[in-house]
Amino acid sequence: MERAGALRILAIADEECGEPSLRPLPPRVAQVLSGFDTPPRLVAHLRAVHEVAAQLVAWVERECPELVFDREAVLFGAATHDIGKVWHPEELSGPGSLHEESGRRLLLGQQVPQALARFAATHGAWGSADVVVEDLLVSLADKAWKAKRVPELEDLVVAELARASGREVWEEFLRLDEELTRIGEDAGARLAYQASYPVR
Ligand SMILES: [Fe+2]
Repeated sequence: MERAGALRILAIADEECGEPSLRPLPPRVAQVLSGFDTPPRLVAHLRAVHEVAAQLVAWVERECPELVFDREAVLFGAATHDIGKVWHPEELSGPGSLHEESGRRLLLGQQVPQALARFAATHGAWGSADVVVEDLLVSLADKAWKAKRVPELEDLVVAELARASGREVWEEFLRLDEELTRIGEDAGARLAYQASYPVR
């Protein structure tokens, strides 16, 4: 990757943006992205989903401290989930799932451990039998950033919360619904932020 392009990618990964307020991508993720011809819009998308994952993680830790999960894995997973679109940029603006396995391979090629690289392959497969709560939270962040509601996915998250807390399912549902509604209030600003970066 030529130097100017790499610097541009690093800038998108952590430049100040007023509206919406987005925390920077983890430095390790920014470093990996800057080593490829990463589309600016993909960097912006990863930043938006990473921000929402961070909000969700903070909410779970506050509201359901009994749920044991790896917060750093969720944040890394959200920050890299679509990284395979570096090799399949057509899937940035159209449908396709080639980026999922490609993303996992790209990360493994950068010495990212399998336990963290896996999210690139699993974020679209939250309905399969072997997903764990970290996968569900990454998948949920990938919907919630644009205020998309997916009842089946939310039910799986609610079940994890209820199992950990001992509270009733309906009560956990109401709590999660309230948080997703709150997060969704900034969806328009996040969509506008992402769309302001070119695909190429
Ligand atoms: Fe995504």
